[in-house]
Amino acid sequence: MSNPKLLLISGSLRRGSFNRMLLAEAEQAFGEADVTRADLKLPLYDGDLEEAEGVPSTVQTLAQQIKNADGVVISSPEYNKGITGVLKNAFDWVSRVEGMPFKGKPTVVMSANAGRTGGETGQFMVLSCLVPLQAQVIAGPMLCVASAGNEFDGDGRLTNDRYLKVLRGKMEALRAEI
Ligand SMILES: Cc1cc2nc3c(=O)[nH]c(=O)nc-3n(C[C@H](O)[C@H](O)[C@H](O)COP(=O)(O)O)c2cc1C
Repeated sequence: MSNPKLLLISGSLRRGSFNRMLLAEAEQAFGEADVTRADLKLPLYDGDLEEAEGVPSTVQTLAQQIKNADGVVISSPEYNKGITGVLKNAFDWVSRVEGMPFKGKPTVVMSANAGRTGGETGQFMVLSCLVPLQAQVIAGPMLCVASAGNEFDGDGRLTNDRYLKVLRGKMEALRAEI
């Protein structure tokens, strides 16, 4: 049997992003998989651009990656207690692509933030946005890594057993759903 196809989506573009580290940890916890990392460096959604030029190729690539994936893992910080602009922009573009790429797609959502709530408020917004996209969000305890600067070691590994336990549970649930 071939490996499950996993798509990792970071709501932060930053190279040293804690959310990228959390996604790497999720990949480890998931086990064997063919992994793709989404690139959310997309033009800002603009109805005029869409009308003049159609859906940009970078968005089509993202939509195809979502369609091809057996499972999706999204990790995003909150910005000012809400969803990051890049993630919302990606959702908006993807919603304009034929065939509802997220529909029925098993999807895990999590967050890492510098603040003491670990991005919980923003994560609820991500979950809300996935409702019209009809993703199949994997239910279970939320994973909100707080004070993220203290939770990853020099190799970018998550060190806190409490968070690791929740992460492993989420990845097991995702694997079971695929
Ligand atoms: C525009 C902006 C808004 C932010 N708002 C929040 C916030 O609402 N809550 C919080 O805990 N941290 C906030 N932060 C700090 C982030 O938690 C921190 O930059 C974190 O490292 C971002 O995630 P990343 O490492 O994946 O890029 C904000 C940072 C930026 C740049």
